[in-house]
Amino acid sequence: MTTHHTRPLRLESLAFGGDYNPDQWSEDVWDEDIRLMIDAGVNLVSLPIFSWPQLEPEPGVFDWGWLDRILAKLWHAGIRIDLATATATPPSWLLRAHPEMLPMDAEGHRLEFGSRQAYCPSSPVWRENVARMTRAMAERYGDHPGVVLWHISNEYGDHTSRCWCPVSARHFRRWLKDRYGDLNGLNEAWGVNVWGQRYTSWDHIETPRRAPGPGNPTQLLDFERFSSDALLELFQLEIDVLREITPDIPVTTNFMSMFRDLDYWDFAAVEDIVTDDAYPDPADPIAHVGAALNYGLMRALKGGQPWLLLESSASGTSWRDVNVPKAPGEMRVDSLQAVAHGSDAVMFFQWRQAKYGQEKFHSSMLGHRGERSRTYRETRELGRELQQLREVHGTRVRSRIGLVVDWDSWWGSTAAESLPSQRLNWAHQARAWHRAMHLLGHPVDAVRATGPFDEYDVVLVPNLYIADSAQAAALTSFAEQGGRVVVGPFSGVVDATEKVHDGGAPGPLRDLLGIEVDEHWPHTDGVTEQVTFADAAHDNPFWGEWIDATDKTEVRGCYASGELEGLPAITRRAAGDGSAWYVSAILDDAGLVAIFRDVLAEAGLPARDSLNPDFESLTRSSADTDYTFALNHGREPLTIDVPPGARDLITGATTGASLELGRFGVAVLATPRADQAPFLTLRV
Ligand code: GAL
Repeated sequence: MTTHHTRPLRLESLAFGGDYNPDQWSEDVWDEDIRLMIDAGVNLVSLPIFSWPQLEPEPGVFDWGWLDRILAKLWHAGIRIDLATATATPPSWLLRAHPEMLPMDAEGHRLEFGSRQAYCPSSPVWRENVARMTRAMAERYGDHPGVVLWHISNEYGDHTSRCWCPVSARHFRRWLKDRYGDLNGLNEAWGVNVWGQRYTSWDHIETPRRAPGPGNPTQLLDFERFSSDALLELFQLEIDVLREITPDIPVTTNFMSMFRDLDYWDFAAVEDIVTDDAYPDPADPIAHVGAALNYGLMRALKGGQPWLLLESSASGTSWRDVNVPKAPGEMRVDSLQAVAHGSDAVMFFQWRQAKYGQEKFHSSMLGHRGERSRTYRETRELGRELQQLREVHGTRVRSRIGLVVDWDSWWGSTAAESLPSQRLNWAHQARAWHRAMHLLGHPVDAVRATGPFDEYDVVLVPNLYIADSAQAAALTSFAEQGGRVVVGPFSGVVDATEKVHDGGAPGPLRDLLGIEVDEHWPHTDGVTEQVTFADAAHDNPFWGEWIDATDKTEVRGCYASGELEGLPAITRRAAGDGSAWYVSAILDDAGLVAIFRDVLAEAGLPARDSLNPDFESLTRSSADTDYTFALNHGREPLTIDVPPGARDLITGATTGASLELGRFGVAVLATPRADQAPFLTLRV
């Protein structure tokens, strides 16, 4: 796959709007839509995402009229269009003509029509039709002056990210041939001498359907890689058509935050603009902490370039077991959090709340009560507020901390059933490490294990199960040049074909970390051991390791209970001008906070004393101005110390030495750009 030059989005201010489904309404509703959109400050809408059957009711017979009419109305109202290629879901006539296009699950059952995304990503018929529809859309609307962005498909992999059907199996074999060349290569890679799995013909290879016992881990890992690539091919296929016909219009597909099934580094590399759909659960008081890491990934996927929050909810969703609404003010702070994290848009699913279908109980900008609905009042106020924030458009987030996000390690450490413990979960581990940095007051960018690390003082590697020498070299050179690397448990265990590194973990990271892992030591459920760090005991649920430190490595923390009592748990090794830490245990928040506090001090970075997850602050900068966002994600008011003399973009006021942030309160403080971004703290 090639990385293409990034085409800019032709919007001068922050985008505001949402998914728009005019084909679910009679045309007499459209004028009211437009009037209320203008009133709310909407300047961008996404359509027609799921409308293929309404656009091509019969094979080859198109009905463009309704789309022509609504696009014209939007254009005349000054509302720009994120035009979907309408390929998110196939029409029934296509599926009934080609039933082999329906996806199949791991048990061999076909999934039926009646929801959405009922397609096998590898199906040649689907691909051919997707290309045909994309071409038809591009030819018809590529010159439309309102179209500023192509919205390809919708949330790839949301419902169908893996398919185990015979067509997928054929595609999987081709993918494996490309990867391994010949059957010997494949047999060697998959370690087939274990449990008698030698293949003598390519045709004998299947997708890893349900088998009598645990599957071959490398086959499972390759299937994860293949499945991500299969959807990436589908994405590339549409991009190629669009670049041919509309070379100047940027392309995107909306991501689903930190989504396990697709390697978003690969997807972002082929598109122009990263867009994300974010649905933090209002029932979870620290959902915003998870969102912060997701946004740290979104801005990192294209090297810090602003991204767009393309979907979010004005209040409740309708796909959770219990869909708690957002309290008054909560949607605003959620939205401004995304802006703080580098989004140049606040967009929603969806503009007008549906009257029927699967999503009629999903909140929208315009609720069932129309302009009298609370969500409309609140989104309209937000639309006005975003206009006051137009200066932040195009600015970039400043972060000193990188956190390695590596899909191979995520898949490898979770796809197999035969692991030391199923309780070591890549995402939990990454989220816990990020949460500790959030508590200490630092935003975190995602980064690849090979860097680039130039922007960072600290690089966190919560888990790198699959590690190679290029990653080890990049991390080592970062440390030697003065960086601090912190590596988590179960790292450097295997190579890309899941073969254990010679001498065991941490494999290629052994010299950098100055430790050797003798044995992984997971705990059974309900057993929590203790680890001491800086004289305090911390809970160590789930996982420990028997490690030996080599002579130049300092032991900074030890196991304090259980079989590992007295053995090293947390180590630090000086490396050039920097250092490399190893945290062999899974620790509670307090334990991670204590370790990271020391790492930050070593790196010369500030840290908060008072740990309140509700308080978040981070800075977007232009060449001459720092815009520091202060967000209160909770209901209790907070008092924070701020730089005096800053201009609050929202109130227009000039700050004194402290600022009161009410329930769900937000301030955006402009100050002249400084070498280090302002670091705001809570007043206690
Ligand atoms: C997204 C999807 C939208 C809508 C939304 C509801 O996953 O892209 O079409 O279904 O969820 O939250």
